[in-house]
Amino acid sequence: MKKYLVIGNPIDHSLSPRLHNYWFRENNIDAIYEKKQIKEIDIKRIISDIRNNKIEGINVTVPFKKSVIPFLDRAEIPENIQSVNTIYSEKNNITGLNKIIGTNTDIVGFKYALEHTKFSIKGKKIFILGAGGVTPSIIYVLQEMEPSIIMLSNRTKEKAENLKKLFPQLELIEWGDTENFDMIINTTSLGLKENDKLPVNYDRIGSGKFFYDVIYNPIETNFLKIGKSLGNITLNGKLMFIYQALSAFNIWHGLEPDVDENIIKLLDQ
Ligand code: ATR
Repeated sequence: MKKYLVIGNPIDHSLSPRLHNYWFRENNIDAIYEKKQIKEIDIKRIISDIRNNKIEGINVTVPFKKSVIPFLDRAEIPENIQSVNTIYSEKNNITGLNKIIGTNTDIVGFKYALEHTKFSIKGKKIFILGAGGVTPSIIYVLQEMEPSIIMLSNRTKEKAENLKKLFPQLELIEWGDTENFDMIINTTSLGLKENDKLPVNYDRIGSGKFFYDVIYNPIETNFLKIGKSLGNITLNGKLMFIYQALSAFNIWHGLEPDVDENIIKLLDQ
């Protein structure tokens, strides 16, 4: 039986096993997908398990998306995105050895989720909160869609400044300031806990804007709740999560499972 893993720390919250194991059953694939909490020091050994055919593929989540990169033979990622979330192997027919390749399916996940909404980014003012692991993938997708401006605000200014080195067109905003925007995106982890509050001045926003949260558990963060109550469109990170998983599944198995109501329900707690 083939084995797949998602590695991270913490890892309990991950719904990737639920999704991939469902698709294994649906597609009659003899495989199992498990989650594993690891430490930085374990990365080398786990990746060598792919080389030795003990593991077929790995998803990587916080905080290892960058630290796995030196252990790969090749990272197929854009230059300004130091983030790998999917690892697979390629057999060299001459040597018989596996080459370990990392890629990033968060990018395509966010892109598909946006396309699904039919909200056009072109010419719009985008305001991003946070500068964590997933933020570069989000910026990468947005900038391809030609917004008029991408503003970004992060509690730790240095991390926002580091992102600006990778994406010079970013306009940095002080943490706590709320600028005029058409779309606001939460990429921070604020909202995972019930009492989490983002420092957004909701009085000045008005209606008809687009509130997006990368968080999908809880289904509706306070940020989305308030956005909705003010008459804005809202979307959580569930579609992005599903599509990044689907893209990884496609890389590993060459199949593209349907995303239907069953999948959406499967992920509801
Ligand atoms: P990592 O930074 O390891 O990639 P992450 O979960 O991907 O972790 O990202 C965490 C994001 O949430 C960061 O933007 C972080 O802000 P800092 O860079 O200032 O740490 C943000 N974040 C987490 N807790 C926060 C809090 N209590 N207040 C404000 N921002 C917070």
